[in-house]
Formats: sequence, C-alpha cells, structure tokens
Amino acid sequence: MERISLSINGVEISVLKGSDAPIFYVHGSAGDAEIWKNQLEEIGGYAIDLPNHGKSGETEIRSIDDYAYFVSELVSEISGSGVIIGHSLGGAVAQKAYLNDRGAVKALVLVGTGARLRVLPKVLEGLKENPSETAKFMADMAFHRKNFVEHFGKLFMERAGILLEDLTLCNEFDLLDDFRSGKIKFDIPTLAIVGENDLLTPPKYSEFFKAFGAEMRVVEDAGHMVMIENPEAFNKCLKEFLHSIGKVLL
Ligand code: COA
Repeated sequence: MERISLSINGVEISVLKGSDAPIFYVHGSAGDAEIWKNQLEEIGGYAIDLPNHGKSGETEIRSIDDYAYFVSELVSEISGSGVIIGHSLGGAVAQKAYLNDRGAVKALVLVGTGARLRVLPKVLEGLKENPSETAKFMADMAFHRKNFVEHFGKLFMERAGILLEDLTLCNEFDLLDDFRSGKIKFDIPTLAIVGENDLLTPPKYSEFFKAFGAEMRVVEDAGHMVMIENPEAFNKCLKEFLHSIGKVLL
C-alpha cells in the first residue's frame, strides 16, 4: 500500500493506493482513507482523504457537491472513470459525483447511506456544547461490535469540529423528492450495502434505492461501520458485485 497525492484546483488530495484498479473509496463524516484498509488489501483500488480530512489539504467546503467535485476530478485524473464506493456522507458524495459528472462514474456502491441523511438534533447541538459525551454517543451508535467504540469515541472527540461540519452537510443532503418524482434514477450498476444493525442509516434507507435500479445486500452482525465490523462478509458482497459488472469496466 502506498500514499499518492494529486493537486486538484490547488488543494493537495491524499490517496491511499492498494492497486491501480479503477475503484475509489470515499469515507464518511470525520473519517479518512484508513477505514478502507481491509478493502484495499483484499480488493485494491484507491481510498481518498476528502479535503480537510486525513492527510489532504484544507479548503472551504460548503456542500456535498463541493466534496463531489474533488472526487470526480480525482477519478478523472487517475483513471478517466471508475467505480465509486461511498460510506455514509461518502455515499452522499458518490451520489452527487454520479449526478454531476456521469462520465467519471461507471458504477456506484452506496454503503450505509441514503438519499436523505437527517441527523439527530441532539448530536448537532451536543457536538457544540458537549463534544466529549456526544463523540462517545456517536461511536456507540456507529458500531454494533462494541470493541471498536472506545477507539472511535476518542477519534471523534479529537475530530469534533470536522464531525460537526460533515454532519451539518449530511443534515442538508436530501434527494428523496428527486428520486420519488422520477427526476433521478440509477442508469449505471448500483449496489447498496448496509449492516443489519445499522442505527445511523437503517436498512430501510438502502431498501429505498431498490425502486430506482439498485441492488441491495444486508451484512449480518454489523452496524453502520460495516466495512470495518464485518470485512469478510462486506468484501464478499463487493467482490461479487465487481465481478458481475466486470464487462462495464472494460
Ligand atoms: N431513505 C428512505 N426514507 C427515508 C430516508 C432515506 N434516506 N430518510 C428519511 N426517510 C423517511 C423516514 O423513514 C420517515 O418515513 P416514515 O414517516 O414512513 O417513518 C420519513 O422519511 C421522515 O424521516 P426523517 O426525515 O428522518 O425525519 P424524522 O423527523 O422522522 O427523523 C431523525 C429525524 C434525525 C430523528 C432521523 O432521521 C434519524 O433517526 N436519523 C438517524 C440518526 C442520525 O443522526 N444519523 C446520521 C446520519 S449521517
């Protein structure tokens, strides 16, 4: 695994590279490329640190579309087009990348995400007023396998500022009516993967995508952080999907 860095519109975007397969992973709120290590090792591709996250540079981000711009540009520069795999906020970014720059996106994998991502008001308030307790609460909500909670509670605490910024963007993200009115649907292969015990983006959010052309897989014994909590089952779903769309990628 190696780190590479590309300058996009004057911002250094850092990427963890597992292989040169045209597969691009986008992390969720206050995350970074490291959450995809199990996938980079077994499946390969590129995991992106979004601007203001991980080892990437800083810039002003005002909406999910701004993150999507950096992802589309990066995919275009590295391999012209590819499969975009986005988790939670990253899944919102992946949907916007597809809608805003269809040439860059050959297939979508939407992991623990939805067409609308409202956030509990007590989390948005709590991150301002009591970040330590709220960070622990978020980590507890995010994981079904509780052995991860302590580590991620500390991480969310250290990153409370960007966590609040990202969750505020999630709270504003809403494509439900655009799907329902027929304005948008998936014209490319799309897979929704969700942990059966996901409390932050429950399986019904993934179920919603099925009416608009997506397949759906539910991973047992996992919560919101499904790719970390049950990487064996998650990677199996992902590999089967990638295999099924092999021709699309050629
Ligand atoms: N896909 C499909 N349906 C969705 C949806 C999605 N992405 N988001 C919301 N809906 C549905 C809900 O299921 C609900 O349907 P119902 O009336 O049949 O039960 C309806 O739309 C309204 O839901 P919502 O917009 O979520 O508003 P709410 O006032 O009912 O609840 C919250 C607001 C914050 C309590 C709720 O969204 C929640 O618990 N969110 C998860 C916790 C969280 O903070 N997650 C972080 C995500 S990054």
